[in-house]
Amino acid sequence: MTQNKTHFSRRFQSSVIRYSNCWEDADVLLEAMAVKEEGKYLSIASAGDNALSILSRNPSLVLAVDSNPSQIACIELRKVIFENLSYKEVLEFLGINNGLDRVYFYKRIRSLLSLETREFWDRHKGFISRGIIHAGKVEKYFRLFGKVILPLIINRKGCDELLEEKDESERIVFYTKELNSWRWRLFFRIFFNRKTLENLDLGRKHVEGNVAEEVMERVKYAITILPTHNNPYLEYIFINNFNNSLPFYLRKENFEKIRKNLDKLMLFKGTLNEALESHEQLKFDGFNLSDIFEYMDYGQYVAGIEQILDSSKKGTRLIYWNNLLTRETPEFLQNRLKSLDEIARNLFLQNRAFFYSSLIIEEVQ
Ligand SMILES: C[S@@+](CC[C@H](N)C(=O)[O-])C[C@H]1O[C@@H](n2cnc3c(N)ncnc32)[C@H](O)[C@@H]1O
Repeated sequence: MTQNKTHFSRRFQSSVIRYSNCWEDADVLLEAMAVKEEGKYLSIASAGDNALSILSRNPSLVLAVDSNPSQIACIELRKVIFENLSYKEVLEFLGINNGLDRVYFYKRIRSLLSLETREFWDRHKGFISRGIIHAGKVEKYFRLFGKVILPLIINRKGCDELLEEKDESERIVFYTKELNSWRWRLFFRIFFNRKTLENLDLGRKHVEGNVAEEVMERVKYAITILPTHNNPYLEYIFINNFNNSLPFYLRKENFEKIRKNLDKLMLFKGTLNEALESHEQLKFDGFNLSDIFEYMDYGQYVAGIEQILDSSKKGTRLIYWNNLLTRETPEFLQNRLKSLDEIARNLFLQNRAFFYSSLIIEEVQ
């Protein structure tokens, strides 16, 4: 495991967990990446869910990179509990089910963590005891939404009904009758106002367009066109846990496939740029870049893509999401990067984590 201390700058030491789950649809990501057996992949770590999901396809390396050490602490703890707990215990430890004494189990496995990660979780036993999937800032907003806002729009019975299996026409009727009230629309106008988003301290500096309308349309699509009963992202937002649907890395059928490849997972604390500099000898087969380009200005985005190209080979895929900004193949790089538009558009139609405006898949030529 890479524990490069030079990339662990002091300013990160008091960092918070922003994401205690990965809010990007792992099923879509795996299709988009077309992960090859024995291939080498770089994945932005976030909470770790999707880097672990990539392991299920038997790559020879997944380098999980994050500039926020708290996110590295999230993935490292997941790795150790996958290694040492049964499937049932993993779900209980993470906070999906109850039953296990989480702090007791943490004390049993903490010596297997790196010093920095151990110190982090030692300082945050409250997160362990509630279950670490509930520890992020984003998840805190979802809880606030679930406790304060949602009851003004729909009651718990309604939420359960929303998550029941229905056909498309029933979902449209449900949305129109039970959700699409003036309070629902007002909620979007207040919370997805450009200024609110910029002030939420989620790391974004630039926000474009009529966000409220756009986000409302995306949510409507996820609630009416896509099935709701197997959407873990929707379920967490509406009932603040995974109950009937689980993200890819937590599904029973994927547990052993991930577990047997945990030795292929390497962690890197630092920026993508630093990770590539530290591993310049490696050529990757694919990059899961999350939506990190949203946090960069256009010049930094282009420089990032050029650096990625130096660590790529013919056929390497770059996968990233657009949310509030649009980033896509810069024109002057179109001879080196082919945009797989059609595949991306089709996969995007299945995307259940509805925050994004588009999925970008680019293939190195
Ligand atoms: C870009 S954020 C987006 C999260 C995502 N939309 C979600 O909800 O799952 C994902 C992770 O990228 C990390 N990150 C952002 N910019 C980065 C960079 N340049 N290099 C490495 N990690 C970065 C953040 O710390 C965060 O943990």
